Amino acid sequence: MTALTLSTSGAATLRADALVVGIAKGPKGPVVAAGAEAVDKAFDGKLASVLETLGASGAEGDLTKLPALSGLKTPLVVAVGLGPVPEKDDAFPAEALRRAAGTAARALVGVKKAGFALPIESVEDAEAVAEGALLGAYNFTAYQDQADEKDAKKLPLAEVALLGAKPRDKAFKAAAERAIALAEEINRARDLVNTPPNDLYPESFAAVAQAAAKEHGLKIQVLDEKALAKGNYGGILGVGQGAAHGPRLVKISYTHPKAEKSLAYVGKGITYDSGGISLKPAGHNETMKCDMAGAAAVFASVVTVARLGLKVNVTGWLALAENMPSGTATRPGDVLRMYSGKTVEVLNTDAEGRLVLADALTRASEENPDAIVDVATLTGAMMMALGSRTFGIMGNDESFRTAIHEIAEEVGEQSWPMPMPAELRKGMNSDTADIANMGERMGGGLVAGLFLQEFVGEDIAWAHLDIAGPAFHEAAPFGYTHKGGTGSSIRTLVKLAERTADGDLG
Ligand code: BES
Ligand code: MN
Ligand code: ZN
Repeated sequence: MTALTLSTSGAATLRADALVVGIAKGPKGPVVAAGAEAVDKAFDGKLASVLETLGASGAEGDLTKLPALSGLKTPLVVAVGLGPVPEKDDAFPAEALRRAAGTAARALVGVKKAGFALPIESVEDAEAVAEGALLGAYNFTAYQDQADEKDAKKLPLAEVALLGAKPRDKAFKAAAERAIALAEEINRARDLVNTPPNDLYPESFAAVAQAAAKEHGLKIQVLDEKALAKGNYGGILGVGQGAAHGPRLVKISYTHPKAEKSLAYVGKGITYDSGGISLKPAGHNETMKCDMAGAAAVFASVVTVARLGLKVNVTGWLALAENMPSGTATRPGDVLRMYSGKTVEVLNTDAEGRLVLADALTRASEENPDAIVDVATLTGAMMMALGSRTFGIMGNDESFRTAIHEIAEEVGEQSWPMPMPAELRKGMNSDTADIANMGERMGGGLVAGLFLQEFVGEDIAWAHLDIAGPAFHEAAPFGYTHKGGTGSSIRTLVKLAERTADGDLG
């Protein structure tokens, strides 16, 4: 893991391999941001014009490397774009800082130590830069030969020295600790998502959770096939029964002795979604190792909450199964008796996420938490609606849904509230069972939300995050977002727990 330190030296005296500074996009070319004064001085006050000559604009994503000739103790200067110059007296948006730091960190693969001298006006700014740098300094190389010397270059930036933060100030120190815990767990969730499905299957995922639970003093319970059968978890078993690797339900709990509120986080953990007997066509299953991103997010969030010692109880439920076609697989037309007792006619085995989630939601409801949030790469329809960077939020409680949307916005995650129109329920009417696992094609993401709602305990505030779009990034990397697993929704879930611990919600 990349190390983070709050630097006690200034930009002119820091000894490092590189120094990162910010530039903003002004009306007449790039503008040097606060924090870069020493670098500007080293360039005779001409840093902005030098950068403009090199084609820099200060726009988001813009990155220019310059050799430092004199006046600095670093050989390399990296100037990153922060986007438009803020209105008078305004600071840069936290997400602009986070992304700029991430862009710089990504460009510094193979580098040992870099100083980040971005404009920091507050503790929040410092934390955003730290998060962006640590999330940008990520690379999934577990399956690439590290012994090869030329591949050693791919190792992420080893040390981030944050400039402009007060190293002896309690608030800055706490912010750094929080950024480290959060980024490490997000990066671990990314690893889980990126791990190929031949190595990450329900049993091995559960083992990772068990190890983490031991490390952080969390309570954990793993139900295997036998225990699931004994407990009548028909949804999880029905999805998992076609695979050689059996399903699991993991309960991982963090409790605080003085907690007044409890949250349940429920994650879809399909370690591979082939579609089952309703097999996905070629071109649609190559990235389906990402279908456990919800469970990874839940897992990472619970561990982060524990590391931060928040005054709230959080239970994570990981509904793990591999969705495969075989002679033992659930057939379209089969009826499953769910954990809740409801029967579901499986019309399409590719609508499997809602089946495993339904059981976990019912089970989570039994413990009567103050709120439940489920996270799932649930529908292609949500990607159609919101694109690949925004998750949809549904739920049974408008103010809770709004709160989550606002929290997501605050932590720099793109989301949008979605409705659950009641008239879509009848599309799931079944001739044979209580409900079918599919309804109208139009509004497919909302239909899935309506299905899930049937398995949530009455009077429990519940929100459903459909992260099918942002969970797995297939386009070119940007900011702190790499190709592959992103760790989508973890920052939102952790902030929600913090708000709940502080008594700011419900
Ligand atoms: N895991 C998929 C949804 C998905 C698609 C996630 C693309 C990420 C990227 C889910 O299990 C699924 O297959 N959903 C179906 C539901 C349909 C059969 C009702 C879908 O969206 O097509
Ligand atoms: Mn599916
Ligand atoms: Zn799926």
